[in-house]
Amino acid sequence: MPSLLAADFGSLAEACRHAIEAGGDALHIDIMDAHFVPNLSMGPDVVKMARRTVSAELHVHLMMTRPDLYLKRFIEAGADTLLIHIESDCDVRVALQEIRALGARPGITLKPDTAAEAVFPVLEFVDDVLVMSVHPGYGGQRFMETMMPKMRSLYDYGQTHHLNYDVSVDGGIDLATAPIAAANGANLFVAGTSLFGAPDMKTAISAMRDGACRVHPETIDFTRKGV
Ligand code: DX5
Ligand code: ZN
Repeated sequence: MPSLLAADFGSLAEACRHAIEAGGDALHIDIMDAHFVPNLSMGPDVVKMARRTVSAELHVHLMMTRPDLYLKRFIEAGADTLLIHIESDCDVRVALQEIRALGARPGITLKPDTAAEAVFPVLEFVDDVLVMSVHPGYGGQRFMETMMPKMRSLYDYGQTHHLNYDVSVDGGIDLATAPIAAANGANLFVAGTSLFGAPDMKTAISAMRDGACRVHPETIDFTRKGV
């Protein structure tokens, strides 16, 4: 799914439309508070604009120290999936349950330096586990292949415990790295720079989807295959 962070901020509505018309299954929207990460990006009004503009799923990634204070605002703005960080300064389990009670899909995500085990206790409450394959805060960074064992163990945990969450990957995803993530259990792929920077986003999305779907189809039973 295209990540709006890499779009031209001078024409965000057009970027949302373009990303979905090009075949994106959802739009990824990065929210940064300049405290949890050293950058500022967008807020609920951008989510509201995206909701008015496209009917596709809005996958909203909160890189915030206190996401719990803003859940309602983002869900009212139109977020379908709301992802919070395990490193946030709040009761993550309560926040995830609140997201579900407010009618959205709860997701958990973790920084590269955080071990998979840190999120195990909350996996029963989520619909999506997003593995950060770069340090959160900026687009255009290099994919950290060292995150793949962690992704595999999060995928395996779901299989072993019969939990039906998506495994998403975020950071440095392109035609070369999406299949690596797919081979380790990812079924949703967030890509900013590689999709918005492609000469033709439609071709890039379908190539990314094909590349990811071809990998280990016999071992990975994807319920959703999203780019
Ligand atoms: C980084 C964000 C990502 C970012 C990915 O903090 O969470 O969603 O947009 O950008 P690329 O695809 O350029 O690595
Ligand atoms: Zn993100």
